[in-house]
This record gives sequence, C-alpha cells and structure tokens, in this order.
Amino acid sequence: MSFTTTILQWFRENGRVLPWRETRDAYAIWLSEIILQQTRIEQGRPYWERFMRRWPTVNELAAASEDEVLREWQGLGYYSRARNLHTAARQIVAHGGFPQTLEGIKRLKGVGDYTAAAIGSIAFGLPAAVVDGNVYRLLSRHYGITTPVNTTEGKKEFAALAQSLLPAHEASAFNQAMMDFGAVQCTPHSPQCPQCPLAESCVALREGRVEQLPVKRKTLKVQERHLTYVYIRCHGETAIHRRPAGDIWQGLYEPWLSEHVPCGAALLRQNVKHVLTHRVLYADFWLWDVQEKPALPEDYFWIAETDIEQYGVPRLIELLLEELWKQSK
Ligand code: ADE
Repeated sequence: MSFTTTILQWFRENGRVLPWRETRDAYAIWLSEIILQQTRIEQGRPYWERFMRRWPTVNELAAASEDEVLREWQGLGYYSRARNLHTAARQIVAHGGFPQTLEGIKRLKGVGDYTAAAIGSIAFGLPAAVVDGNVYRLLSRHYGITTPVNTTEGKKEFAALAQSLLPAHEASAFNQAMMDFGAVQCTPHSPQCPQCPLAESCVALREGRVEQLPVKRKTLKVQERHLTYVYIRCHGETAIHRRPAGDIWQGLYEPWLSEHVPCGAALLRQNVKHVLTHRVLYADFWLWDVQEKPALPEDYFWIAETDIEQYGVPRLIELLLEELWKQSK
C-alpha cells in the first residue's frame, strides 16, 4: 500500500476528533489555524470555542474592537496573532467574503504558507500540501532523507515531496492526516514504531536511524558586533561611504564607521540593539559638529546633508538619521 493510502486509512481510524473538523465554515477553520499556530490543541480549543460563541461570524468579529479581541485572547500569548486576526477579519469583510484562492488567503494578515495551505485545503479542498515540523519528521524518516530541514534546499525538497504525495481530491484529509500522524504516531522522541502502519516501508526504521532524523543544520552562533558611527556635520555637509562586498549591507551607504570606540562629540544615541539573521549589532551613534573637514579614509566622500535621502542606507542608519532630524529641528 502506498504512503498516501496508508496515511489516509490511518487518519480515518485514528484522526483526532476536533470541533473545527466538524465544519466547512472557512471562518471557523481560519480561526482554528491562527490559534494553533503557536498553541497546543488542548490549550487552544477552549479559546476557539469562546471566540465562536462570542463572534459566530466574521462580520461580528470585524465589528468588535481590537481591545475586545485582545481581551478574549488573554492567556494565549503571541498577541500579534490577535491583532492580525482582527485586521484580517476586516480584510475579509472588505473583500466581500472569505477569499477562496491560495493567493487570496495568503494576503490575509497573519497567514503564511503553512496556514494558507491548511485553510485552503481544509475549507476549500485546494490541493496545497502543508509543511511543518511534523511533516519534516515524518517524511525524513519514512524516506530516509538527510537534507537539513532548516535550509532553503531542505525546505524546497520536503515541500516538493509533500506536494507530490498529496492526492488532489483529498487534500484536506491528507494534510490533517500528516499533522495528526506527526503529532500522535511519528513523534519526536520514542515514536510508536512497533505499531506503525508505515513500519514496513520506513527507511529510518529499517536502518536504525529514527532518532537521528530529521537532520537540522546547526545554526551559526549569533555573531555580535559593536559599531560606532560618527555623523560628521560640517557646514551642512556630511561624509558617507559605500559598504564593501563580503559583509553585511553590501553596497549600502553609511556615515563614518569605526568598529572600535572613538572619543569626542555629543553622543546622540547609545547602544541601539539591531538584530539581523545570525547577528546582533550594537551601535553607538555620535554627532560631531566641526568647523573644518577632518581627514577620512579615502572611500569617504562629502555630500550635502539634505542629499543623504538619495543614498540607500541600512535600516539601522535610517532609524538613527530620523532621530537626528528630530533632534536637530
Ligand atoms: N495544527 C495546526 N493546524 C491543525 C489542524 N487543523 N489539526 C490539527 N493540528 C493542527
């Protein structure tokens, strides 16, 4: 029996009974998916029930105030989900009903690829495979795939495999089967392999690698950097340079930078913490008002302060410049 047939049969016999599985109402399904994004089923279920009782339709939720929604969300955490939920309810009403295409669903605030595939398949039968940690685990074990799941390549490979296994006319059951199978049967630790209906074809079980899969690439240690910027102001001009290749912010412009602390001048803003992927930057920003242009490394050049907007600068610099304009007014 194929993987897909087996998993569908397992789901018919073992799928979890959940209230949002008793409906085709896209609103009810969407609400469940937003609640379940960062919350376990047992914890989320009473919230879903309360929301459905208080706001049985999207029109009613859209008519509520954000404060009311936030209060009802109290205790679930990740409150941006509640704010997005409320915004999306108004998007849906403005749209004239729940969007019925994957693209339309993805345009709703708070809905990413996973949630769009879940809602699209469960509410509308759209043939889009969900891919999350449960799916990575199940597929990497069953097919013995060692590509790290937290890489672009891995994400692509697993998404393509899940999509190829999805039966176009049973997208809803297949996706929920994958979720439940990963949560109940093919668990992260001590999975129930002796009772697993996929045991015969499971590569990881045959090769004794169940506990080693899925593979995750070790994330790079977060690198810390301390940047000291000196914004030089000389009769309405300032000096900038273009960032070189081979580092963050390649090709963007920035004020005079030193990666060690210089002395002098008025400290405009201290210790801005700026988080990039794999990096935390600590930046100090100094304002140095001078009467004569100091000598600078040769890649720096002088521009009118008012022209700086014409140069692409990192977001961090943009924020610091905004602060500078505010203080200079
Ligand atoms: N986790 C996220 N969505 C889910 C769903 N529809 N059923 C079970 N678990 C889920």
